[in-house]
Amino acid sequence: MIQVHDKQFEIYLSKADIAAAVQQIADGINADYAGEKVLLVAVLNGAFIFVADVMRCLTIDCEIEFIKTQSYEGMHSTGNVKMLLGLEKDLKDQHIILLEDIVDTGNTLAALLDIFRKKQPKSLKVATLLLKSAALQHKNLPLDYVGIDIPNKFVVGYGLDYDGCGRQYPDIYQAVV
Ligand code: XMP
Ligand code: MG
Repeated sequence: MIQVHDKQFEIYLSKADIAAAVQQIADGINADYAGEKVLLVAVLNGAFIFVADVMRCLTIDCEIEFIKTQSYEGMHSTGNVKMLLGLEKDLKDQHIILLEDIVDTGNTLAALLDIFRKKQPKSLKVATLLLKSAALQHKNLPLDYVGIDIPNKFVVGYGLDYDGCGRQYPDIYQAVV
């Protein structure tokens, strides 16, 4: 058990579970983009550890950029996606993969996809380590690479936070209710 702010969390996914999911995502990307170059776009802050691990499993040519959004306050999605840090790079005619730590309602991803599609990339795919499919409110999101489908409970660790804290744990923990 760990404590983050006022909440208790219990272990849910081990380092080994996470590493297997990361490798499976990277295997898919390596196979799909063999001989091509991709631009990874990581959604900060939560995806910073995930993207570092995925990138080290890639054998294709790749570059990385970071963007920053905010939709959560504490343990609840506000449904209102703010872009806090944008992208300088020209996306036209590039293969883009958006990397998310977790897709919950899908609001963040839907908003990001709208923005990215307007920039006319050669292709646009999404990789997420975690998916709360029971919480998903958007149909037809292109979830091309999904690590692990988890129940609709708040999680921390491996880059994921509860109000800024809890990101440092190598395993993923689930809120105890
Ligand atoms: P939406 O609802 O827009 O949420 O799909 C995506 C963003 O919300 C954050 N999020 C979480 N962060 N534990 C976290 O630490 C969670 O269980 C969780 N659920 C959603 C996350 O930043 C994600 O990018
Ligand atoms: Mg977060």
